[in-house]
Amino acid sequence: MAAASSALRKTVFRVATVTGTGALGWAYLQRLPKAQDDHRLSWRECLFTRLYTTFVAPVVMQTDAETAHNLTLRAGELLQACRLLLEPSRSNLPLDWLLRPAAAHPASPGPSLRQELFDGRLVFDTPVGIAAGFDKNALLVPLYRLGFLQLGFAEVGSVSAEPAMGNDRPRCWRIPSDQAVINCMGLNNEGAESVAARLKSFSHVADGSPIGVNIAKTHNPSIVGPAAIEDFVQSFKVLAPLADFVVLNVSCPNTVEGKTFEEPSALADLLSAVARQKQAMQWERPPPPVLVKLMATPDSDAGRACQRQLLAVIEDSQLVDGLVISNTIKNPEAPLSRAGREEADQIGKGGVSGKVIHSRSVAAIRSAFEATGGRLPIIGVGGTDSAEAAYEKIRAGASLVEVYTGLVYKGPGLVTDIQAGTESLQTIASVCSLSGFPSLRSHVLWGFAPDQFGKPLLAFGSCANQPAKE
Ligand SMILES: Cc1cc2nc3c(=O)[nH]c(=O)nc-3n(C[C@H](O)[C@H](O)[C@H](O)COP(=O)(O)O)c2cc1C
Repeated sequence: MAAASSALRKTVFRVATVTGTGALGWAYLQRLPKAQDDHRLSWRECLFTRLYTTFVAPVVMQTDAETAHNLTLRAGELLQACRLLLEPSRSNLPLDWLLRPAAAHPASPGPSLRQELFDGRLVFDTPVGIAAGFDKNALLVPLYRLGFLQLGFAEVGSVSAEPAMGNDRPRCWRIPSDQAVINCMGLNNEGAESVAARLKSFSHVADGSPIGVNIAKTHNPSIVGPAAIEDFVQSFKVLAPLADFVVLNVSCPNTVEGKTFEEPSALADLLSAVARQKQAMQWERPPPPVLVKLMATPDSDAGRACQRQLLAVIEDSQLVDGLVISNTIKNPEAPLSRAGREEADQIGKGGVSGKVIHSRSVAAIRSAFEATGGRLPIIGVGGTDSAEAAYEKIRAGASLVEVYTGLVYKGPGLVTDIQAGTESLQTIASVCSLSGFPSLRSHVLWGFAPDQFGKPLLAFGSCANQPAKE
């Protein structure tokens, strides 16, 4: 009798332990950010993202945002050193899948994602790149060049003429409830000369994915007016010969001096000074395309009018070949959830990035595309964390997309998830075009030109919507 009751107790204890552990595990998994909102991808296709969000993100989230970012860069540098060491060897090595992802998956990404932009001056094997701010000092250029993570391109910087320490720490915070980041880094970077020296040291890995260098005014409130223009021009002079494209960052919300070049006449002065510098330089190869990075102007009549004024200046300048839209948006303007807003209000300052700025970025891309008639290729950035978000930007008029905050929450697998998702969207798009959609504009990749369609017509995963008239 005693033996039976002891066996029963043991069984009850085991069942309770297993059930309790299972319930705790289940509760834990529920608390994690969703691995992938993109239902087109199978579990296997987004395996890396799932592994990251399940096992890595919870650990990363315990670490201060800037420390985690610095550790990521250090890990990247280590990987890069191994990668460069292996470069002369063409044999199959045990870590090839990690170090040479393109070698491990020769068929992916599909050639259909390839684009030539800026009058054919640059070729992008895939449209997904990394945004400015991730690698301010161009530490990982060889990795990007060699197609690491299947990135189609990378924008390094912002780099300024003088080195800058940026604002005091802490200056970067995560808002997990909204999958957002708030930063007021204050344009910390090693300065144009030092970054130029590093880029020169990487010149043996010159072919591959295009590298853009984002330049900004040195973060020093005493540099204003003509000195601010001279500061920009100096960075252009030093860095443009080493860049595949140059981005003029005139929209950083985190400077002590506030807005400097987002006022039409100041922007006109800056662009004409850079144009003069470009003319005066001796180029060993064709000069790189110049892009301007704008903020996401509010989705309102006043916001669009303000953007049109800047775009008129940009088009008149005869210097600018494209646009990057958009930068972070100011903390108080970000549409955060109630919990997120409470956290953000405690921080007070900074620019918000992540999925909460996606809609505003899309609206700004669409209005810029309409205002310029699609003449300037647009790199769409702001809250891209899935193929759906990337595709929405492309439908709005972007030719390329960049990611940053999405990587924090979804991990490096996000880049290939977006590519896999957009390839399936592309298939849908081509089926739809066979069934009557008008021809695709050459520079808006899988999308249908927004000016032809006005509103998105293609529902994800279905061709239910009828094509618009030609
Ligand atoms: C920590 C951090 C630092 C950034 N630094 C820069 C920068 O130096 N220059 C720049 O042009 N944009 C910078 N950005 C803005 C990003 O390039 C991008 O425009 C913005 O984060 C929106 O994209 P996302 O939502 O995908 O992050 C930074 C963003 C973050 C989160």
